[in-house]
Amino acid sequence: MLNDMSGKINTAIIVAAGSGSRLASDTPKQFLKLKDVEILAYSVQAFLEHPQIDAVIVVTSADYLDHVIRHYPDCKVVPGGDTRQDSVFNGLEACSASTDNVLIHDAARPLIPSWVIDSCLSSLETCDGVAPAITPADSMVQIEDSGFRNLNRDSLRIVQTPQCFHLNILKAAHASGKVDTDEMGLVKQSNPQALLGFIEGAPETMKVTRPLDLEIIKNYLDAAEK
Ligand code: C5P
Repeated sequence: MLNDMSGKINTAIIVAAGSGSRLASDTPKQFLKLKDVEILAYSVQAFLEHPQIDAVIVVTSADYLDHVIRHYPDCKVVPGGDTRQDSVFNGLEACSASTDNVLIHDAARPLIPSWVIDSCLSSLETCDGVAPAITPADSMVQIEDSGFRNLNRDSLRIVQTPQCFHLNILKAAHASGKVDTDEMGLVKQSNPQALLGFIEGAPETMKVTRPLDLEIIKNYLDAAEK
């Protein structure tokens, strides 16, 4: 791992403390295997191998702390919290004092191409925060009491991770007492002046949620090997 060419220190925080699984399994999805490799291992490897990432922190639940410490020796491992936001907070607390930028990534998204990380880091040279996002391919509607309303999909985005920020901006958002489901939402709520943007994401950075998602990603990996 080398320092960013801009001289910035970049720390990836992979949140892997969720307990839920809609995948008909007692094992949290980040610890299921995909082609004999744990889902968490894919994103850990992507960040460890990226030349501009200086450190990787994995946040996980008490039940999996020993497992992650044993199997991911190149990462710092810290316990998670009751919510995703609490888990991210613990990851931020574990960042080195020299960290300039943090990249918060869902362990449940195994496929993170290096060009997405490149693109996020170059955006942070001019923005306070950035996340990959993709335009929905399907028609989008909003369900209302009286029926539904069609939305203009060209103006909508599906927001992915890593959600990337200058460390001081994200720490201030956490200190604000606001609550949100992701970091972009939290920073926007707590700091309306923050310069936030989106870069084009990769469809394969989908979050593993349903059993079918595992099959889709497995087929993608098989095709990429050919
Ligand atoms: O539940 P969901 O798929 O939205 O979780 C997104 C990511 O946040 C997952 O990688 C999950 O492990 C993580 N998470 C966490 N701590 C929690 C809840 C979720 O690290 N308390």
